[in-house]
Amino acid sequence: MESAQDLIVELGDNPDLSIAESIAVMCPSSCEKVAGSENFFKLCGTKMRHPLYYGSILRVAKPVGTLDNLEDVLLDFAKPRGGGILWALISVNLTPGEQSSLKEAIQTTIKSLHRRSIYVDATARYSRFGELTVTRAIRKGFPDSGTEFLGVRRGGLLELWRTISYPDLDGFIERDFARPCTRPRLSMPPSLANSLINLTQAIKPNARLLDPFCGTGTILLEAANMGFTVVGLDVDYQMVACSLANLKWLTTNTVTSARSYLVMRGNATHEDELQRLGLFDCIVTEPPLGPILERPPEKRHVEKIMRELTPFYNQALKGLSRILDNAGRIVLTTPVWKAKGGIVVPDSRLILKGTGLVMDTYFQRFGIRLPITWRKPDNIVQRSIYILRHGPA
Ligand SMILES: C[S@@+](CC[C@H](N)C(=O)[O-])C[C@H]1O[C@@H](n2cnc3c(N)ncnc32)[C@H](O)[C@@H]1O
Repeated sequence: MESAQDLIVELGDNPDLSIAESIAVMCPSSCEKVAGSENFFKLCGTKMRHPLYYGSILRVAKPVGTLDNLEDVLLDFAKPRGGGILWALISVNLTPGEQSSLKEAIQTTIKSLHRRSIYVDATARYSRFGELTVTRAIRKGFPDSGTEFLGVRRGGLLELWRTISYPDLDGFIERDFARPCTRPRLSMPPSLANSLINLTQAIKPNARLLDPFCGTGTILLEAANMGFTVVGLDVDYQMVACSLANLKWLTTNTVTSARSYLVMRGNATHEDELQRLGLFDCIVTEPPLGPILERPPEKRHVEKIMRELTPFYNQALKGLSRILDNAGRIVLTTPVWKAKGGIVVPDSRLILKGTGLVMDTYFQRFGIRLPITWRKPDNIVQRSIYILRHGPA
C-alpha cells in the first residue's frame, strides 16, 4: 500500500481502458498525459489501493529523485553486504543521448559505491543471469533483486523514477491456461476481466460481486482472486460445472486469497431468480455477444442479430438493477461488430430504457469516451464497456 504521491502509469494496449482503470483504482485528485509521451499518464496526489491487480496497465512508477541526488538514491538500492545491483532503465521522453548519459551516470555511481553494476535490458525476457530479468524479479515480489529506473523528462527537468508495480502477468497466464476448464472462443482474457472489476471501484474486503452470464467463470476467478465474494449464474449446466471446476482449482491449486464462491444454474432475464441471490456491491458481466463467425458478415445480418440482443440485454438489466446496491456499479460488455459495410453496435438508449440505470459519466472528465472500446485488431467482434449506476429517482 502506497501513501499519497505522484505516480506514473504506462498505458497498455487499450489506452482509454488503462487510464480509466488507473483512475478507478488509484483515485486521483488530478491527472494528465506526460507531455510529449503517448504511453505514459501521470496521476497527481494519488493513493494506490491495491498495487498487484492491474489488467490493462503495464507498470506503475513513483519518483525517487533527480540526477543531483543519484548517489543517495542508489545507496537505497545497494545491498547491505556488497554484491551487485541489478538494474534496468526505461526512457520516458529522453533523447537517445540523454538516455545513454543517464545510463553511464548510474553505472559510474554504482561503481563509486563499490558495488558491481549489473545492467539488464528491461524489455528482454531472459537475461544472461538465467531467467531473472529486472521485470521478473520485481513481478515476483523481490524488489531487492532488481530495480527498474525510469528516466523521465518533464519540461526542462530530468527526473529519476522507479517501477513499484507491474500487473500480475504470470498470474493471468496461469489462470488463462492452467485452469481445468476453458473455451478458447468464449472465455474472455483474464486481464480484461480484471480491468472490468477495477472499473466498478468496489474495492473493499469481501465485497459481493455477481456475474449473471458467467460462462467459464473468468470474471469470477479474477474477482475471487482479488478477495471478492463471488456469485455466478449461467443458463447452461455445462458452464456452471466449468466455472465451479475452475473456482475449485483456484482455491486449491494456486496461491490466492479466494475464499467464498457460489455458482448456480439460472436465467439472468428472470427477475424472480435474480431476486433470490440478494443484494450485490457490483455486477460485472459479458452477456452473449452473438454467434461466432469466421468472416465479417453482411451489415444487415448483424443488424438482425442486434435487434434480438438489444431487448435481451435490456430485460437482464431491468432485473439486475434491482439487486444492485444503491452505490454500486454494473460493468457490462456489449458487442461492436465489424461488418461488411461498417461497424454495428446496439443502441445504448434501448439497452438502458426503463432500467433505472445511467452511464456513469465520472470518467468523461478525464477525456475518456464512453462506452470504452476494447479492441483486438483481428477480432470481428470487439467490445464496448458500459459502466452503469443507478440514475436519479
Ligand atoms: C459470452 S459468454 C460469457 C463468457 C465468460 N465471460 C467467460 O469468460 O467464459 C455468455 C454466457 O451467457 C450464458 N447465457 C446465455 N443466456 C443466458 C441467460 N438468459 N441467463 C444466464 N446465462 C445465459 C451462456 O451460456 C454463456 O455461457
